Amino acid sequence: MSDPTPASHYLHGTDPDEQDRLSRLNGVLNEQCLRELGLAAGQRVLDVGSGLGQLSRGMARLVGPGRVVGVERSDAQLDQARRLAADDHEAGAVDFRRGDAARLPLRDDEWGTFDLAHARFILEHVTDPAAVVDAMVRAVRPGGRIVLADDGHDTLRLWPEPAGFGRLWRCYQRTYDRVGNDPLVGHRLVSLLHQAGATPVRNTWVFFGGCAGQPELLHALADNLVRILHGVRGPILDVGEIDPAFFDGCLAAVREWQTRPDATIWYAVSWAEGRRPGG
Ligand SMILES: C[S@@+](CC[C@H](N)C(=O)[O-])C[C@H]1O[C@@H](n2cnc3c(N)ncnc32)[C@H](O)[C@@H]1O
Repeated sequence: MSDPTPASHYLHGTDPDEQDRLSRLNGVLNEQCLRELGLAAGQRVLDVGSGLGQLSRGMARLVGPGRVVGVERSDAQLDQARRLAADDHEAGAVDFRRGDAARLPLRDDEWGTFDLAHARFILEHVTDPAAVVDAMVRAVRPGGRIVLADDGHDTLRLWPEPAGFGRLWRCYQRTYDRVGNDPLVGHRLVSLLHQAGATPVRNTWVFFGGCAGQPELLHALADNLVRILHGVRGPILDVGEIDPAFFDGCLAAVREWQTRPDATIWYAVSWAEGRRPGG
């Protein structure tokens, strides 16, 4: 299901299977991402595009309940985020609000007060990432931090490469630029911070790869990959470069690859941090 509004094309959609995929990916990534953030008790955090809210709740465990605002545009994601929080006895840990990343639903007295504004995996889904980063810079206090974590989809590598996978992955990336999104936005995070008036202070990658010797991790990563591709089968075929038989054969080859004793995968999230001048 694609996103209906022009400023944001969230091709992955919000059906239960996709929510389950995103939730499992959170399980693989969140510990490392939280470590990178280096949060301290008492800080106020804004999580932009908070999705199912699992990372937002991880932040709230570090800074204190009620000190994280999560902004999410989709009602389906917000409902599920609230359900998951209640299931984990963390209702109220995060103040989940409905709103757009470029027009943050903050009260007048909240602008310029957050210690950290954070966004993961959302800039790749909007047509104007600069507008989102601009709002994030305005949301933090002088001296406050802005952290952008997003995909440069060219970091993905599988070895030995399943037949046709390179071609399929290039078509997947075309589904982004065809709707005006940037599949390589991860390359631009420091530039986006600079353009929004923040001072870039750090650039790194959060690695999430593995190999056959880490069966649980490899299975989780391969499963994530297959489910992402399966979920956007229609848009990939619409690109017009591969036919259904090629697509299905390629996914079968990825599943086969996953059972190899030498299966290897590299993937990384681009991660950049800036500070609002002053303070
Ligand atoms: C891939 S999910 C990432 C969720 C979360 N940040 C994470 O890392 O698990 C992207 C989320 O951004 C939301 N989103 C997309 N465009 C948005 C916008 N313009 N404003 C607010 N949320 C948006 C989608 O509904 C989706 O829940």
